[in-house]
Amino acid sequence: MSERKKIIVAIDGYSSCGKSTLAKAIAKYLHYNYIDSGAMYRAVTLHMLHKNMVVAELNAMNPEEMKVFLNEIKITFHLSPETKLSEIYLNGVNVDNEIRTMGISDLVSPVSAISAVRKRMVEKQQFYGGHRGIVMDGRDIGTTVFPDAELKIFMTADKEVRAKRRYEELRAKGYRLTLDEVYQNIASRDQQDTSRSESPLRQANDAIVLDNSDLNENEQMAIALEWVNQAIEA
Ligand code: DC
Repeated sequence: MSERKKIIVAIDGYSSCGKSTLAKAIAKYLHYNYIDSGAMYRAVTLHMLHKNMVVAELNAMNPEEMKVFLNEIKITFHLSPETKLSEIYLNGVNVDNEIRTMGISDLVSPVSAISAVRKRMVEKQQFYGGHRGIVMDGRDIGTTVFPDAELKIFMTADKEVRAKRRYEELRAKGYRLTLDEVYQNIASRDQQDTSRSESPLRQANDAIVLDNSDLNENEQMAIALEWVNQAIEA
């Protein structure tokens, strides 16, 4: 594997359609790093809450205040010794679980729409991919972060299917919420992520669509691996 060309795999798509599941599996197969770019925007949102701030206050900041706010945020990824998966740390604290709560999910889209926030996160994401050999998932990876990625996958699935999967995942983690709450959150984030002015979620012209409404994890991985191997051999 080591003598094979190293590529960038960019996976974009709607909320809760299994991007991170596929991205982690591809990263494991290729022995690449995996970066969850959505987790970075979630960590910024958590920092805002730690400071007892609301999104409107963040939006109202002047450039100098925003710079100070962003400079307070140190995001790092470390491999978990147990799961061998990369987990996100905010200022040295593992927040991988805390950032997945509905409280954060409800606020992250407007936070991620702030231009200065995006600029800082994109710089960091591009730094991670500087030597290629990376799988990154998000909303604008194939369009803005790595427009030159060798493989771009655009994932989608029926909204009902996505809501049901996320609902079961959150329930299994012990969160008490209804299927409708999860559905509304997904619908609202899709709407906000596709309609924002800066780097909205959209399919890159050279991305391949993967609709996994009727696919299980193994089936979607088999399809993606064909594309991965083609991209490496190309
Ligand atoms: O992938 P996720 O659901 O954890 O992402 C959380 C939010 O972050 C998502 O609703 C939109 C935003 N996001 C973004 O704007 N750009 C990215 N590259 C990744 C996520």
